Amino acid sequence: MCGIVGYTGNKRASGILLGGLKQLEYRGYDSAGIAVMDQNKITVVKASGRLENLCRRTNDGDSVPGGAGIGHTRWATHGAPTEENAHPHLSNDGRFAIVHNGIIENYLSLREELIAEGYHFESETDTEVIVHLIDMYYDGDMRSALAKAASRLEGSYALGVICTEEPDKIYAAKEASPLIVGAGIGENFFASDVTALVSHTRNVIYLEDGEFAELSPDSIRITDCFGKVIDKKVSRISWDVQAAEKGGYEHFMLKEIMEQPAAVSAAISPRIKDGRIVFDELSITAEELKHIHKIVITACGSAYYAGCAGKYAIEQLCRIPVTMELASELRYSDPLIDDHTLLIVISQSGETADTIAALKECKARGARTLAVVNVVGSAIANLADDCVYTWAGPEIAVATTKGYTTQVSVLYMLGVYFGELLGKVGDQYDYLVDELLLLPRRVQETIDMNPGIEALAEKYHNSKALFFIGRNTDYATALEGALKMKEISYLHAEAYAAGELKHGTIALIEEHQPVIALCCNPLIMEKTLSNIVEVKARGAEVLALTFRSNDKIVSSADDLLFIPKTTALFSAVTEVVPLQLLAYYVAKANGCDIDKPKNLAKSVTVE
Ligand code: AGP
Repeated sequence: MCGIVGYTGNKRASGILLGGLKQLEYRGYDSAGIAVMDQNKITVVKASGRLENLCRRTNDGDSVPGGAGIGHTRWATHGAPTEENAHPHLSNDGRFAIVHNGIIENYLSLREELIAEGYHFESETDTEVIVHLIDMYYDGDMRSALAKAASRLEGSYALGVICTEEPDKIYAAKEASPLIVGAGIGENFFASDVTALVSHTRNVIYLEDGEFAELSPDSIRITDCFGKVIDKKVSRISWDVQAAEKGGYEHFMLKEIMEQPAAVSAAISPRIKDGRIVFDELSITAEELKHIHKIVITACGSAYYAGCAGKYAIEQLCRIPVTMELASELRYSDPLIDDHTLLIVISQSGETADTIAALKECKARGARTLAVVNVVGSAIANLADDCVYTWAGPEIAVATTKGYTTQVSVLYMLGVYFGELLGKVGDQYDYLVDELLLLPRRVQETIDMNPGIEALAEKYHNSKALFFIGRNTDYATALEGALKMKEISYLHAEAYAAGELKHGTIALIEEHQPVIALCCNPLIMEKTLSNIVEVKARGAEVLALTFRSNDKIVSSADDLLFIPKTTALFSAVTEVVPLQLLAYYVAKANGCDIDKPKNLAKSVTVE
C-alpha cells in the first residue's frame, strides 16, 4: 500500500522518481504523483489510475525539470482515488510538498485546529494536515519543523518532504511504516522498499521509528526527534536488479512460482550443517523453551495459512499446544498470553499493520516473540525478540507464492529444531532432516509432473464456484489454494475441512460443481476418499491432488494433479504448488490482471 520515493542529485529527479514508483507499483495503488523542485519552485503533477497516466502527463518526466523531488503511489483510504486526493500535497503558499504512507488517526482534530488557524484544505486526505503543520512550525529550520509536526501525529507514517527554502534537500521521517535511505555517489534516495533503489545503489540504511533523515546530493544525516545525530549502519543489498524483474516470464507470479525450488533451498539448505539444523540467529535456549506452555501463531492472509500448515508439524514434533490466531482478531481479543507463551508471527513484507499490532499486544503481555519474515530490516523483523528470515528474495506479485512456501519451510525447520531441543524428536531426527533437504527437489518435481494444468484451467475457468476440500494437513493447504484462486481469478473459491461437508456445505453440491480434493496425507486418505465418493454421488466433478501411486484416489477422480511422495508432516510445500499454478492459469484464462489484482495491495499497512 502506498509507495514513496525521494531523490536528490545531479540527474533529472522526475525520471528517477517515476522509475522508482514503477518498481513500487506491486505494493498496490490507485493514483500517483510527483513533486520536483527547480530553482526554489515546486512543480506537482498527479494522475489518478495507473502510473502510465502520470508518465504521459509529464512526458516521462521530461516536462518536469529539477534535481530534487518526491513521488508517491496512493492506495486510497481517506477520500476517493481522485487527483485532488493523490499525493504530493502542497502547503497553501506552495513552499512545502509532502508524501505520506500510513494513517493519521487524529487527523480530524488536527484539521479543525488548522482550519481555525486559517489553513484551507484541498483534499479529503488525512495526509494534508501534515503539510500544514510543517508550515505552521517552520521558522527557518526544516528538520525541527518536521520533528514538531511529527510529534503531533498519532498513527503511522513514512513521510517525504521538500521545501523551497532548501532547494537540494529532501527530508524523511518514519513511525510504523517502512522507509529506507539509499546512499549513492553525488546522489541520495529514500523509498518505501529496496526494490525502488536497487537499480541505483545497493547501499541502504534502514530507518527506525522516530528517526529523521536529511539528504542532500553529498550527505546523509539521520537524527532523532531532538536533532541528535544517530550513527547508522549502511547495509549492502545482496540481490541484484534482475531479481526484481520478470526475467522472460509473462507475469511475476509465474516467475515466483518457478523460483520456488531455489527459494525453498535458500530457506532450508544453509541452516543444515553436518546433518544438524542450526539457527544462528535464534537466541531462545532449550531452558527457555521448557518454560513455554503454549505456542500461538499469528499472521494475516496467506501468512496465516502458512502458520496453519506449520502448526501440525510444530505441535507433532514439540508436543506443545499450538493455536492459530488471525492477527486482526488477536489484537482485540484480550488474549490469554503471558511469559509462558511463545508467539510466532509470520509476514512476508514484515509491515502488515494488523500483524504488527498483534505482535506489540502480545509482547506487552510478556510473550516471547519470534518473527518469520522475508523483507530484511522490516518493522516486524525489528520488533520481535528473534527473527528468522525466509530468504525468498523480492516477491513482487501481490499473490504470494514463494513467500508462502518459504514460510512453511521455516516453520517445519523450527518444529524439528525445537522438538529436538525439547528431547521430543528422538530417532526420527535424521529422517526429518533428510526430508527437509529433499523439499527443494520435490518442489521442482511437482512443477515437472503437472504439465497439463493450463489445459485443466480451460475446463474450470468458467465455473461459478470452486470448492477445495481436505483433512488435517491437506485442509491447511486447501485454505491457501482457495485464497490463491479467489484473489487472482476473482472466482468464488472456498476451502472446507472435508469432514465438515455433511454438516452443511454438501447442500451446495450440484451437477458439475468442481471440487478440488487434496489427498496427500496417508493417515486420513480413506476418509477423504469417502468424501470424494459423497460429492461425486451428487454430481460433482472431482479434481484430486495426490501421489501417482495412490490407485484408489486416481481411479475415483475426474481429473488429477500430482505431488511426489513425501512425509505428510512436510507436504504443504509441494502440495500448494499445483494449486498456485491452477489459480494462475484460471486467472489467465479469465483475462485478469494477475500481478496486480483489483482492490488488493502487496503490503497491507492499514487496519
Ligand atoms: C497473499 O497472496 C495475500 N496477498 C495476502 O493474504 C498476504 O499474505 C497477507 O496480506 C499477509 O501479508 P504479509 O505476509 O506481508 O504479512
